[in-house]
Amino acid sequence: MEELVKRIQQDGDVLGDGVLKVDSLINHQVDPELMEKMGHLFAEVFANRKITKVVTIESSGIAPAIFCARQLGVPMIFARKSKSLTMNEELLTASVYSFTKQVTSTISISRKFLNESDRVLIIDDFLANGQAAKGLIELCQQAGASVEGIGILIEKSFQDGRQLLEEMGLEVVSLARIASLKEGEVTFLEADA
Ligand code: G4P
Repeated sequence: MEELVKRIQQDGDVLGDGVLKVDSLINHQVDPELMEKMGHLFAEVFANRKITKVVTIESSGIAPAIFCARQLGVPMIFARKSKSLTMNEELLTASVYSFTKQVTSTISISRKFLNESDRVLIIDDFLANGQAAKGLIELCQQAGASVEGIGILIEKSFQDGRQLLEEMGLEVVSLARIASLKEGEVTFLEADA
């Protein structure tokens, strides 16, 4: 997506350790117009997949996921990273290891929100090693739901998340694909949409 690539070039900061800081548009301050366009683009790309639920993980996946779900006319569910007091029903849970933070966390979704008739579109802000997406896929599998596709805002193509997901037979659509973050420069591959 040309607009996202331009915004990354304009507003993104490369941190020394291969991390892209985009907290003025995605991860802290959020640009609602850009989010709406990105959410709608995912809805368009996956329009023929008969999606019944959009699933993401808190917190930064929520904004694009909600716009996508609204456009598709389906609910959006975000997996929780910590158990809420109100989550007193049966839970679907998965362990997610973060290479960035070197910690394992448990993510969960209430069992009642996903079932075997659901056709899920997974949305997230970043795809790095793919562990968050893998955890979300596991939650869908536990519910018997099918994963119909994965929509990512920014893919770090020099890490192996995309390969992991494609090896699972899943279609990954990334709106910006980053080839490298070396010497303060962002270089891009051609995006999927
Ligand atoms: P993975 O899920 O693809 O394996 O990613 P990893 O463990 O490496 O990353 C964990 C967290 O760091 C995720 O967000 C992920 O989106 C984010 N992340 C990974 N690479 C970058 C990067 O280059 N820039 C930024 N800004 N974030 C990155 P999180 O901790 O769950 O955060 P949030 O969703 O609550 O904002």
